[in-house]
Amino acid sequence: MNGRRNFLKTASLLTMTGLAGCAKNVGQNQAKKHENATEKVLNGHCLADLRYEFFGKHQSGITTPVQRHVYFLVADLHSKNVDEIRQMFKDWTDYSVKLMNGENIKPYGNNPHLPPADTGETDSLGAYGLTLTFGISPTFLKKLNLEHKAPPEFSELPKFPRDQIKDELSGGDICIQACSEDPQVAFHAVRQLVRQARSLITMKWSQAGFNSFDSGHQTPRNLFAFKDGTANKTTMQNPDKWLWIDNGVFQNGSYLVVRLIQMHLETWDRTSLVGQDDTFGRHRASGASIGKTDEFDALDIHAKDDKGNLIVGEVSHAGLANRTGLQMLRRSYSYSSGIVHGQFDAGLLFISFQKNPMQFSAIQSAFGNKDKMTEYTTHIGSGLFACFGGVTQGEYLGQSLFE
Ligand code: HEM
Repeated sequence: MNGRRNFLKTASLLTMTGLAGCAKNVGQNQAKKHENATEKVLNGHCLADLRYEFFGKHQSGITTPVQRHVYFLVADLHSKNVDEIRQMFKDWTDYSVKLMNGENIKPYGNNPHLPPADTGETDSLGAYGLTLTFGISPTFLKKLNLEHKAPPEFSELPKFPRDQIKDELSGGDICIQACSEDPQVAFHAVRQLVRQARSLITMKWSQAGFNSFDSGHQTPRNLFAFKDGTANKTTMQNPDKWLWIDNGVFQNGSYLVVRLIQMHLETWDRTSLVGQDDTFGRHRASGASIGKTDEFDALDIHAKDDKGNLIVGEVSHAGLANRTGLQMLRRSYSYSSGIVHGQFDAGLLFISFQKNPMQFSAIQSAFGNKDKMTEYTTHIGSGLFACFGGVTQGEYLGQSLFE
């Protein structure tokens, strides 16, 4: 056991009097017990002790209850040597297990004249529900001459109406999504992974993001103040249909689309409440479909008012998406990155998971120029990645691709 966990144990004893049962429960590794523990923790206090399992059928960070923080990184390969990259994923597997367990990547050595094995900024912190999700892009496969392994649906996203994607915020070969209840834990994890692979990859772009909610079951609100993620409940009624790839080298994985979307908050803040509700086809306060009261009441895209107009509107964001008949799992985070031209540089690090990239493309195309929300948003970053299936004990990340 390394210093980080020893500290954790002490911290639990010192500061969590009365919560000892909680800390004990989250230490369990069995999935079922873990689920119950997660629930307790998210509704309670022991966020520091919250741990998710690395091994499993699917990677963590996809259907895991959304955490409060993300650090998302896109990197380019600068080695074309498959053996080196395979070894990198083996090392990342080993490191991920430790990091998600709240441990340092290696124990500290005794020689003070060497750089410490771990960068150390989480030495006093617990696991904080860290999840790590890895994906690779079509260019990754091309660089390693593995294109023949790509499923037919796995090609670059098309350009969409109104896109203003910047080169420096698009493309890339590998993505790492680190989510945690603590921002420093998420950053630390990515920093260790990159540090280990410095000779093989170059960082291209990254974005930190946040979500806020009082308990694990609340849908977080985005910076337009709307509950964002309500329809995920419907997607999760049939994850095999909408989420998981069911054959090939990415079996049990999922396609991740990331979009960096600026939200023009100053313009939004000058919009009336009715105008805001109409933009989404939902009520801002409750998250319910217009005309309904509960957030999870079905979005009725056919309902008309007494003048014959569609209640959720012809061009509301949720209405347009819903009319495609397609679903996806959205796991987005807000970001705020300073000021540009006297305005907030803020928005949404949109992240969606789907069985087929077509789900994203069809919905984004349906928004086109019609979506009322496009008046207030600009897409500036983009990426499509295939996330590997989960890893079982004794295997490594991406094994089916490399063997
Ligand atoms: C800044 C950008 C965006 C914001 C602020 C935003 C916000 C929202 C909100 C508030 C809802 C309604 C509640 C919910 O179900 O979560 C919603 C629904 C949805 N959004 Fe977005 N969204 C954004 C971008 C996108 C993009 C880029 C896509 C995919 C191309 C997308 C796909 C969807 C889908 C599929 C739904 C559910 C529709 C249904 O009820 O069936 N959104 N979004």
